Amino acid sequence: MTMLVDQASHLRSLVRQTRITRRRATVIAITSGKGGVGKSNVAVNLAITLSKGGKKVVLLDADLGLANADVLCGIDLQCNLSHVIARRKELSEVMIKAPGGFSLVGGASGLARMADLSDADRQRLVDALAELEDQADIIIVDTGAGISPNVLTFTQAADHVLVVTTPEPTAITDAYAVIKVICRRDGTARDPMAANDNTKRKMSLLVNQARSPAEARVVYERIAKVARQFIGTTLFDAGSVPLDDQVPACVRRRTPFTIASPRSAASQAIQQLAMKLAAGVTPTGDGGFFNRMSRWFRK
Ligand SMILES: Nc1ncnc2c1ncn2[C@@H]1O[C@H](COP(=O)(O)OP(=O)(O)OP(=O)(O)O)[C@@H](O)[C@H]1O
Ligand SMILES: [Mg+2]
Repeated sequence: MTMLVDQASHLRSLVRQTRITRRRATVIAITSGKGGVGKSNVAVNLAITLSKGGKKVVLLDADLGLANADVLCGIDLQCNLSHVIARRKELSEVMIKAPGGFSLVGGASGLARMADLSDADRQRLVDALAELEDQADIIIVDTGAGISPNVLTFTQAADHVLVVTTPEPTAITDAYAVIKVICRRDGTARDPMAANDNTKRKMSLLVNQARSPAEARVVYERIAKVARQFIGTTLFDAGSVPLDDQVPACVRRRTPFTIASPRSAASQAIQQLAMKLAAGVTPTGDGGFFNRMSRWFRK
């Protein structure tokens, strides 16, 4: 009898361990072609909103060389990713609790060395990212702008790439360029005449600083159409965040707008995005978070 009880408890503990080791965070890379479109503000405020909704969220500020998520959060960092690259700290040691309850891994600013990492250093960062995967539900990576190897390393390591643009023609053109490069890198760009979409990771477009949802929708449709026609990829519609005076006002106060101005239009837009993302995170065995999220995006 005692032996049976022992076996049962051993089994239960094994199941518990298996559950823990099988847990895998969803990695969302937030990127853009043009700089200054609002990636870091979206990343920080999405992290806060998802955390408030009960998710364990880690934000990795991977805008290597020009990081500033810590500034947006009003935090003075002692250690950052440059210490991880230099092998002076583990990633978990540089992670700190940020306002709103998420964990921040801060990036380095003003270090040319970080902006121009070797392949081995980049690999080390991706390996470190993998270590974080069993400690979080969602890992958000603010990749910085453009198509540098640093940015592409993180978009390739992600489950989902959220491309941020504004309605400006220059931002739209650059968003398309970055989508093209990511797809080529993935090997997912296909012959425009081919019938099936073989995209490995999901990619979606968020239109920030939109003057209306209708304006955002037009921007999305333009980019999605050329992405489908000329790259052969499906770009999902992540919606929009309105142009809102509260955003620059909160940046100046070094307080994220979802904390300082939770009723603002921008906060509500982030809340909508986060709620839909969070709804898909619970494991239900129906093909995973991103399959479910894509269904939502298609609605
Ligand atoms: N929805 C918005 N409404 C009004 N202003 C905004 C909005 N989003 C961003 N901004 C303005 O744009 C500025 C740049 O935003 P942010 O730093 O988040 O962009 P970024 O894409 O991360 O820039 P970088 O490419 O330099 O990393 C903010 O300081 C803010 O003033
Ligand atoms: Mg930024």
